[in-house]
Amino acid sequence: MTSSTNLILLLILVLFQHAHGLNFVVTGGTGRVGQRVVEKLLLENPSNSVTVLTTNPNATSILAPNPKLTIKPYDSNSLIECQPCTLIHCSNDVDLLPEFTATFPKTKPKWFRRLSSSPPPSIVLLSSAGVTRPSWSKKRTQSLSGAADIPIVRLNPGDILNTKFKAEERLRKSGVTYSIVRPVGLKDTWPSGRPILSQSDTAVGRVNLEDLASVLIASASAPDAAYKTFEVQTLTGYPPPNDLTKPLKGLVKDGRRPRDEGYQLLQQLLPGEEQDATKLEMGRSYEEVDSGKVKAREAGAEPTEREKAMARSVEQRAPQ
Ligand SMILES: *[C@@H]1O[C@H](CO)[C@@H](O)[C@H](O)[C@H]1NC(C)=O
Repeated sequence: MTSSTNLILLLILVLFQHAHGLNFVVTGGTGRVGQRVVEKLLLENPSNSVTVLTTNPNATSILAPNPKLTIKPYDSNSLIECQPCTLIHCSNDVDLLPEFTATFPKTKPKWFRRLSSSPPPSIVLLSSAGVTRPSWSKKRTQSLSGAADIPIVRLNPGDILNTKFKAEERLRKSGVTYSIVRPVGLKDTWPSGRPILSQSDTAVGRVNLEDLASVLIASASAPDAAYKTFEVQTLTGYPPPNDLTKPLKGLVKDGRRPRDEGYQLLQQLLPGEEQDATKLEMGRSYEEVDSGKVKAREAGAEPTEREKAMARSVEQRAPQ
């Protein structure tokens, strides 16, 4: 097949799936994060179907009944019955993850690999910021002490960080399309805001639970999240972006050399919701572009007559 035929097939597949909703499996669906993921998935697209795999006997009273919600035992047979699906693994238990992984198609077909973009993840793993820090060199630990000398890393209860890191590694090697999300401290009372994504495992701070759920869900359908591992924290007082495409695109795939992380982070601190300064014409504000009050500038476009006139008036006002 030619690559244009492939693209058309992919597009048809994507449109078909969107209209019909997607099939999600959520583990840990009765937990703090999982519950929010389930609620959002059902709210976001009423055609989505969600299966929660859980060991919690009270699951039916914890989760609000919904015709699109199924609750099944936490084991790999339950997952097999749900295939094809996307798994959002919010459970703290990572022992069953290899069994879960084995239920997904392993190798990407050749024609898929020839496409420039990756398929969206089959599995999104909720991991934790700090999982690499116990194995940092002494030098790195000392020079980045603000990230290493913190309670969770110092105490590492039950060796949780290494356990999660090993689970991440197994998932990376599994051949399944994945995305690994590493939140900083979860805090129920931390207000919602803008999720900030980073990749050096040096993030410290707080994340809002709703924002984290949104990031997990966005990653589950974003080709730009595939084969990537990233930290997430919430910057309060900033509006969330319209969508996470740009920050996800700015991340590098695992095993690749990181891009200029300072630039990637600063781009996420732009005002407004579009978060793209190239869309501004001179004298226009981020908010005007967001609201559609003014037309967004095309990337790389020549200055318009209006912009030139504006620049001239600034020139004339400038002190000599
Ligand atoms: C389930 O609910 C019962 C009764 O409220 C409670 O005693 C028990 O601890 C709950 N179990 C779990 C796993 O939450």
